Formats: sequence, C-alpha cells, structure tokens
Amino acid sequence: MFLKRVLDNVDELVFLIEGTKVSEINKKAKEYFGECIGADIFDLLILEKGNLLVDAVHDGEDKDIVEFEDKVFSSKKGGWFFFRIRYLKDVGVLILKDKTQEKYLHDTKMNMSVLIAHELKNPIGVISSAVSELMEEEDDISKIEILARVQKNIERLSRIIQQIEYITMAQLGVYTPKVEKIDVRKLVDLVVDDLEGLINTKRIEVLKEIKVDFLTGDQFILRTILRNLLSNAVKYSFENSKVIVEITKDYLSVRDFGVGIPDEELPRIFERFYRTPTGVRMASGSGLGLAVVKHLSNLADYKVEVESQHMIGTKFTVYFNK
Ligand SMILES: Nc1ncnc2c1ncn2[C@@H]1O[C@H](COP(=O)(O)OP(=O)(O)O)[C@@H](O)[C@H]1O
Ligand SMILES: [Mg+2]
Repeated sequence: MFLKRVLDNVDELVFLIEGTKVSEINKKAKEYFGECIGADIFDLLILEKGNLLVDAVHDGEDKDIVEFEDKVFSSKKGGWFFFRIRYLKDVGVLILKDKTQEKYLHDTKMNMSVLIAHELKNPIGVISSAVSELMEEEDDISKIEILARVQKNIERLSRIIQQIEYITMAQLGVYTPKVEKIDVRKLVDLVVDDLEGLINTKRIEVLKEIKVDFLTGDQFILRTILRNLLSNAVKYSFENSKVIVEITKDYLSVRDFGVGIPDEELPRIFERFYRTPTGVRMASGSGLGLAVVKHLSNLADYKVEVESQHMIGTKFTVYFNK
C-alpha cells in the first residue's frame, strides 16, 4: 500500500518483470504504455538501438544495475520518447525516466543558428564599449558623428542577432514568452529605425498613432510582429505614399495604401514561403514574414486579422486579447 502510493507519485516509469513478463506497473508507466500487465517486455518496449535491454534481462552482463539511454516508442502516446533506462537485475525492476524535454533543450542549444548568435554577442559587446570609449575621448564633432553612426549600427546588428536566436528557438518550440513592461514609443522608433533604408528609398511617410504608453508582454514578440508587418506595408506600397501604425492597449495595426491582396490569395499569405504573384514582382522576400507573425501571435495568444482590397490597400490588426 505504502509502496504503491509512493511509486504512483514518482516521475519515473516503473515495471516489475518476472521472466520477461510485466507483472506490476506504476501510474506513470500506464500513462505511456497503457494497461500492460502480462505483456512481454520485449514486445512492449520498442527501442531504437535494441539489444542492450535484451542483454540486461537475459543475463548478458554481471552488473547489478544496467543503465543506458535510448529512444523508445510509446504505444499509448503514439510517439518516440527519449528515456534513461535502468534495469535492477536482482529484483527484476525496470525504471525509465523521460528525458525528452531535456534532450530537446540540449539539441536547441546545439542548434547552429542559436550557437552562432550566442557566440557573436561577446565580440559585439566588446566593440560597442570600445566605440563608447572613443566617443567620450573625442572632441572633433565630425568624428563623433561617425562614431555615433558606428554605434547605431552595432546596436542594429545586435538586435538582428538576438532576433535570429529567438526566432530559431520559437521555431523549435522552446521559446517561452516573457512578461515585460514595454515602452511602446521606444519600440516603434526602434522598428522604424531598423527599416529606415527601405522607408527612405520609397519615400514612405510613416504615421505613428500611439495611444498607449506602456504595454505588458514580450518585447521581442511585439517588435518582430511590428517589424514584419511594417516592412510588408512599405514593400507593397507605391512610392510616396503613407503607412499608418496604430497601437492602443487592445491592438496594434499597420495600414497601407499599396497593391493590396486579392481575395483569393488571402487564405494563403500566412503559409511559410508563400508569396503572391504580385508580391514576387514588387519586392524581394522569403515568404516567411507572415508565418513568423502568425507563429509568434499564437505563442503570445494574440489574434491576427487582415483586411485588404486589391489596388487600394491593406490593414493588418493584431489583437492582444483574443
Ligand atoms: N501589406 C501588404 N500588402 C500587399 N501584400 C502583402 C502585404 N503583406 C503581405 N503581403 C503578401 O503576402 C505575402 C507573404 O508575406 P510575407 O510572409 O511577409 O513574405 P514576403 O514579405 O517575404 O513576401 C507577400 O509576398 C505579399 O504577396
Ligand atoms: Mg514580409
């Protein structure tokens, strides 16, 4: 009774094995393998690497405890899981610990983009403080201006790097939205600043209608959403037109007076890599922007809506409360 209660409340899957048959299991084991008492352990556990367990159960080794890690197929959950497996030979007990999540996080850290992004942060920090030092010591106004330009672009670069790291994590499903106080005006200025080149080339006037000072949420998510919507609005606008960015406590919207999106294209624009034929002709792109917007909105529990009329313009609205 005592033992059963303890075993039903541990994180490990526990199987008692007689011969090769399962004679007792705890609650956690049931979660992954269902009612499996009486089943043959070798039918039940489909391992990726195979015969380590066979050796262990069949006396292949003299150790009391055989321990290894392997991918195991869970019939109940219908998928592969990464387990640490321990077999206590003297008592015929098999203990499995699900390490899937840990392995996933480890793999993410090992992901190339995340790794590169991480590695770039240090040298950029060093360059940035060196430039600040130079600026402080410099009296020549024209040189200070050059250094300020360098500094501004270092900041840009580090935002891009942070972006790559977070987006990769979001794509791998391991990004958890933060709860931060967001200075709305500052955030909009940063985004407009990032897109300065594009905005100036097309001589677009960006009107900021900011009706809230601060929002609570994840800075990176909101900035990335705005950056993608604003860059689209500018890319798919005609020269010399305007784009309106509106932010209230309930929503963010970006409105343009550009080519618009034909009704029949609307359902597809959030798909990865999808670009409308007009889009392809008008500007360069990857077709990932809106997929990222959608993905991050889901993460943050935002709702995205789009209204558009061909040749008249487009308005994307992101509601903060679904
Ligand atoms: N503001 C907009 N006006 C017109 N078309 C747009 C707008 N925003 C997005 N689109 C259309 O949706 C497509 C997908 O957008 P996106 O995922 O950001 O990819 P990209 O910008 O790389 O083309 C674009 O190719 C374009 O055809
Ligand atoms: Mg885009």
